[in-house]
This record gives sequence, structure tokens and C-alpha cells, in this order.
Amino acid sequence: MDEPGIFISFEGGDGVGKSTQARLLGVWLGEVTGREVVLTREPGGTALGQVLRDAVLHGDHVDARAEALMYAADRAHHVATLVRPALERGAVVVTDRYLDSSVAYQGAGRELAADDVERISLWATRGLMPAVTVLLDADPVLAAERRASVEGKGAPDRLESVGAEFAARVREAFLDRAASEPHRWVVVDAAGAVDDVQAQVRVDVAARLGLGAPTPGAAEARA
Ligand code: TMP
Repeated sequence: MDEPGIFISFEGGDGVGKSTQARLLGVWLGEVTGREVVLTREPGGTALGQVLRDAVLHGDHVDARAEALMYAADRAHHVATLVRPALERGAVVVTDRYLDSSVAYQGAGRELAADDVERISLWATRGLMPAVTVLLDADPVLAAERRASVEGKGAPDRLESVGAEFAARVREAFLDRAASEPHRWVVVDAAGAVDDVQAQVRVDVAARLGLGAPTPGAAEARA
């Protein structure tokens, strides 16, 4: 990657705790690197993305190919207007989901050709890939229970409603991608307590980025 910033994505099934872990990692990376930190997400990291998010997750039925293109459109706008400018400023950008979600959900989940889905997103983003991708891996059944117990979460969105087989395919797709590109991915077991998971995320991300090892127990100083 040519930009001076650091691009990190979080991936995983629904309800594995990505947004909490991404936020905690972002706070810590800001402290240890002294860089600006931009926390964002897909879909919906921009105003246009929020419109696309509402349409794709909470609107009427969307055909699988249209769905893939809507996520790619969100990603194209997100990268062009928010992610790349931040990386050009030298920021750390931590995104809650990126291209691998499309390959896992629209490819494995919706059973579109994974190569096509990936190529559309690579075109959309002019090939921008994260330096590190953190896969928070958990059994989808446990993750669904966790999500149900989180206060204030409403009815499941359409993708969350589609069932156990879909969720299992998505999980396998993430694990396969992580295994085939080990230099980019770190895989962390998401079943533990928030602070324990965060401590492992910090150790693994620090190692990938060549930062000093995190102070043990530091993850307990929650942001
Ligand atoms: P979130 O709940 O993690 O914000 O994600 C919203 C849903 O969108 C989630 O069920 C996964 C799905 N999704 C895709 O299917 N493809 C994508 O490319 C992205 C970014 C998300």
C-alpha cells in the first residue's frame, strides 16, 4: 500500500463483538502510535453509505447480485471519500467490515461466484486492501445468543434472519480466506470476555505491525 496510514479491518459473523473490539483497538493504536485514528464501518461509513445500508438491510427484497453491487457501491464511496483520504493523512483507519464480508456473505452465503464478488470490490476500491484483517471467529449459534442478550438490539436484519446454514457457510469462508492469506489475517477466538479478546487482538496486531508488545492487562483500561 502506498499511503502512509495504516488500514485495519475487522471481520466475522454477526454478533461476534466486532464493533467493540474495533473501537478498543483503535483507542489503543492511537495511544501507542500517536496517529489520528478513524473508526468506521461498512456498510454505512458515509452519509450515502447509510442510505445504502438502510436499503440493503432493512428495505424490500434485494436480488443477490443487486445486493453485491450495493455493498460494492457503499465500499467504493467509503474508500474514495473517507478511507483513502484518511490514509493519505497518515491516520490509522479501523473499519468494522470490508471486502472480505462481501466474499463471505455474497459469495459463500448467497452462493455467487466468490471471484466475481471479490473482483467487483477490488475494482470499486482501486485495489485497496487492509494491512491487517482481524477475524473474530465464533460459533454462529453462540454469537446469535450473545447478540440477543445485548440490550437495545432490535429485530434481526434480513441477513441475520436467514439461518444457521448461511451463517455456517459465512464462517467457513472467513476461515478459508484467513488460511489462504496468513500474512494479512489474524484469527482470534471471539468466545472469551471482551478484555481477554482485546488483549489477544492487541498482541497479534502489534506483532503484524511491528509495534512493541502490549503491556499485559492494559486492555482492562477500557475506553
Ligand atoms: P453489521 O451488523 O456488522 O454492521 O453488518 C451488517 C450486515 O451486512 C451483516 O449481516 C453482514 C452484511 N454484509 C454483507 O452481507 N456484505 C458486505 O459486504 C458487508 C460489508 C456486510
